[in-house]
Amino acid sequence: MKKLTVAIDGPAGAGKSTVAKRLAKELGYTYMDTGAMYRAFAWKVKESAIDLENEATLMAALRETRIELLEEPGGLKVMLDGVDVTTQIRAPEMSQSASKVSALRPVRERMVELQRAMGARGGVVAEGRDIGTVVFPRAEVKIFLTASSEERAQRRFDELRGQGKEVTLEETLEEMNERDRRDEQRTLAPLRKADDAIAIDSTRHSVDEVMAIVRREIEKKMFISN
Ligand code: DC
Repeated sequence: MKKLTVAIDGPAGAGKSTVAKRLAKELGYTYMDTGAMYRAFAWKVKESAIDLENEATLMAALRETRIELLEEPGGLKVMLDGVDVTTQIRAPEMSQSASKVSALRPVRERMVELQRAMGARGGVVAEGRDIGTVVFPRAEVKIFLTASSEERAQRRFDELRGQGKEVTLEETLEEMNERDRRDEQRTLAPLRKADDAIAIDSTRHSVDEVMAIVRREIEKKMFISN
């Protein structure tokens, strides 16, 4: 059976990861968390004090950076230059840092190159901001998942609290709005729904309902391409 490429884009906290992970598992596809890649590079920028103003330094750092997404029974393991950074990249401040470095052209070019290499043979569920528009514009299935900002902030707040992080709902909402604004307004590959993507508002649908809609789309495409 033909292996499809499934693109899931949308703002922070819309439920992309939950849906993408479940879907990848069901289909036996590779789960590609592209946000984790921007986060990993942002972590490196911070740890190695890479000067983002110096393009030559930045390009050299990008060339020698190795990012691996390893699927393990406990979840996705993110390796940066051979070191496990899975936990570190989820710190709340890394969300803003990732959003900032992701606006830079050399960073985007390198990440897109890596992502295309990882998904070259199909059979991937990739989630991010520009998957359906830039990374895999020919993806057979494109989903644009949204939810109200209040709902998304509440979900992210619950998640962070669950991890024992000291944050307030107001801070979480503010941080999320700022990040979405930056991701939507940047010049390069801004967060945008691809014209041929199906928009799903997860404020009004449970995860199971979203999964049912996505599954239907996948079945249609599998039927057409066989
Ligand atoms: O999905 P996430 O919250 O882990 O992503 C962190 C940041 O990385 C997000 O605010 C913007 C950037 N990003 C991007 O520009 N393009 C992607 N495909 C994925 C993430």
